[in-house]
Amino acid sequence: MNLEDILDEARRDFAAAATLPALEQAKARFVGKSGAITEQMKGLGKLEPEQRKEAGARINQVKDGVEALLKERREAIQAEELNKQLAAESLDVTLPGRSAGLGGAHPVSLTLKRIEQLFASIGFAVADGPEIETDFYNFTALNIPDNHPARAMHDTFYLADGTLLRTHTSPVQVRFMENQKPPIKIIAPGRVYRVDSDATHSPMFHQVEGLWIDQHISFAHLKGVVQDFLQRFFERDDLQVRFRPSFFPFTEPSAEMDMSWGDGWLEIGGCGMVHPNVLGHVGIDSEKWQGFAFGLGVERLAMLRYGVNDLRMFFENDMRFLKQFA
Ligand code: FA5
Repeated sequence: MNLEDILDEARRDFAAAATLPALEQAKARFVGKSGAITEQMKGLGKLEPEQRKEAGARINQVKDGVEALLKERREAIQAEELNKQLAAESLDVTLPGRSAGLGGAHPVSLTLKRIEQLFASIGFAVADGPEIETDFYNFTALNIPDNHPARAMHDTFYLADGTLLRTHTSPVQVRFMENQKPPIKIIAPGRVYRVDSDATHSPMFHQVEGLWIDQHISFAHLKGVVQDFLQRFFERDDLQVRFRPSFFPFTEPSAEMDMSWGDGWLEIGGCGMVHPNVLGHVGIDSEKWQGFAFGLGVERLAMLRYGVNDLRMFFENDMRFLKQFA
């Protein structure tokens, strides 16, 4: 390689080296043991002494040039690598965050909440009781003794130890009256269970019990409270309530409650004046105190309010259904 060509060659080779190891290899071709500059140095010996000094100076000049090119290229490669690393590790703090996704309350929960709010606004407190009940609270204390045919009407889930899954919220009446003196004004919403399953019956469903015991509570109060509640629940002032004679062992007289819907009537629960035997069980003097109780089917109210025609939809956890209430 001519001395004149070395700088050009070095510039080209260094530019072609993309990494530091490649650059080191390229460097060896010029300043290594058998590199072009080293070869030039070796050639000095063949020259006349007076030519040697000048030629040596020229070779050193080229060598300094090569070293300068090398340094320049090394720094450029290092800067490039740093930039690449910074780009790879960069974090865009302006990107929007990943949303956690908001859920919504279940339509039955929404219905329960609405029921509680409406009754609270007319002075009813909320009470609750256990879902695993004893035969005594679910039946006997409610004036349904052993072998009473009404027991067969409740298709009960019995547990191995003789307890049962409550078939209605009425046992909460008994538990509450055992512990509180009248006047009493409560609702008791909650889950209940029956061996029952079709489009309008589910093995687990919700009821809301109402109980108002005082000295002058009559059947007229019962009808007024239920009608006021239903009119506000469905936001319809023209909604009518009809009572049909019925039978529950724990109320006397008893009625089935229907409400007007379209051209007809729909049954939404049972009710009546609390039976003196039930008050007697919990030590309340039925000569002095009396009142009413009712039990409403919560899913039934939710179906009507949201236009759902199959009760099982509430419990299938289909997101397409549930999302409509979020
Ligand atoms: C009772 O359970 C009484 N404890 C109600 C009561 C309370 C009467 C206080 C008097 C005084 P019944 O079995 O009719 O009554 O049930 C009440 C309501 O629960 C029904 O009108 C219906 O709306 C709902 N219901 C009953 N069985 C099911 C079921 N399997 N799935 C969904 N809802 C049901």
